[in-house]
Amino acid sequence: MSGTEIGAGLIDYLAASPTPFHACAESARLLTGAGFRQVAETAEWPTEPGGYFLIRGGSLLAWSTRHSAGATTPIRMVGAHTDSPNFRIKPQPDLARAGWQLLGVEPYGGIIAPSWLDRDLGVAGRVAVRDGAGVREQLFRIDDPILRISRLAIHLDRSARDGEQLNPQQHLVPHWGLGDRPGDFRAHLAQELGVSAGDVLAWDAMTVDLQPAAFFGRDRELIAGARMDNLATSYAGTLALIRADRDAPGAPTTQVLALFDHEEIGSVSERGAQSALLMTTLERITRTLGGDREEMHRALAGSVIASGDMAHATHPNYAERHEPQHRIAMNGGPVLKINTNLRYATDAVGAAAFALACEQAGVPVQRFVVRSDLPCGSTVGPVTSALTGVTTVDFGAPTLSMHSVRELVGTEDQRMYADALTAFLCPA
Ligand code: CO
Repeated sequence: MSGTEIGAGLIDYLAASPTPFHACAESARLLTGAGFRQVAETAEWPTEPGGYFLIRGGSLLAWSTRHSAGATTPIRMVGAHTDSPNFRIKPQPDLARAGWQLLGVEPYGGIIAPSWLDRDLGVAGRVAVRDGAGVREQLFRIDDPILRISRLAIHLDRSARDGEQLNPQQHLVPHWGLGDRPGDFRAHLAQELGVSAGDVLAWDAMTVDLQPAAFFGRDRELIAGARMDNLATSYAGTLALIRADRDAPGAPTTQVLALFDHEEIGSVSERGAQSALLMTTLERITRTLGGDREEMHRALAGSVIASGDMAHATHPNYAERHEPQHRIAMNGGPVLKINTNLRYATDAVGAAAFALACEQAGVPVQRFVVRSDLPCGSTVGPVTSALTGVTTVDFGAPTLSMHSVRELVGTEDQRMYADALTAFLCPA
């Protein structure tokens, strides 16, 4: 597939994935289309070789045992995250100020607040709905522009030119109607879902920038859109697992894709990268292959994990913020992320495995380190490597404006990204 074809696929994936819950549903849809079968965590899992996946809230784990030679076969795993910074709707969100109806929200993750101002926002997420004596989960999305966080006119704040001071409790409250009395978010949600307001028991609801992702630039070399960090990796990883499952690899491997929720807030939850989800699933996969914990630990000892999260492309207006010996070019290929203080998990052995995968795929590889006088970001890589004891490499695809509501990636990079991950799952 060409960069433009994969780029178009990414644009569709982003449109289908306004929240982590929807991203899991969309990866599940793609996997199911390729013959993968969903398993329930409460059920016994099939032992015949094949492709499978499970969903726990906003996290998805998928695997293929089709090219495995048994329970001690080394695992190749690609990890990524499904969540991105946004605003989450508070449990009692309805308020009114100065003739406006507002919705109380709380920032989630490392948000770049000014990028959310004056945007057309919808709401999407998951609702817990009463269902007889029980509760059912229902995904929802409101794609109409019902919310906006309006910027203060510059005439009323001359200091804005020196950088805005935005207090999240005071200044980042979206309005969604006019009136002196608060609106009723629960009732609105119930109407959207076609249920009665009393049956809306709770929600995980978040703001969504409604401008669709699109090819960008004079030569369409770029793609602009929301949630590239880290749905671009989630998409490339999903494609890579489907291809790896379909095409016979060189050496036997058990192939795993782990898409985790909650990376942006530290990965500590029942389904985050620090949870028992990964190890529990690996243990159960080993059992379907006829092994137990002993076999699992033998498999892990020969395994490699590639932890994907977007990488900072060198910014033309701030080139001095980047390490001059490690310039990262847009459409320059996948990026190995290295940090001596292990904010990235990459070591020489992991880096070599990833470099060989890029070589196998025929794509160039770039190497990122942060300037020695700047702090370094982090990913799920160090967490997963500590939890599993498996050699881990952190990598990403070049991105500008990371964590902005509208990020920028390279079109050709998306093809190279998917190709490199496919080769990583199928080492020659
Ligand atoms: Co990220």
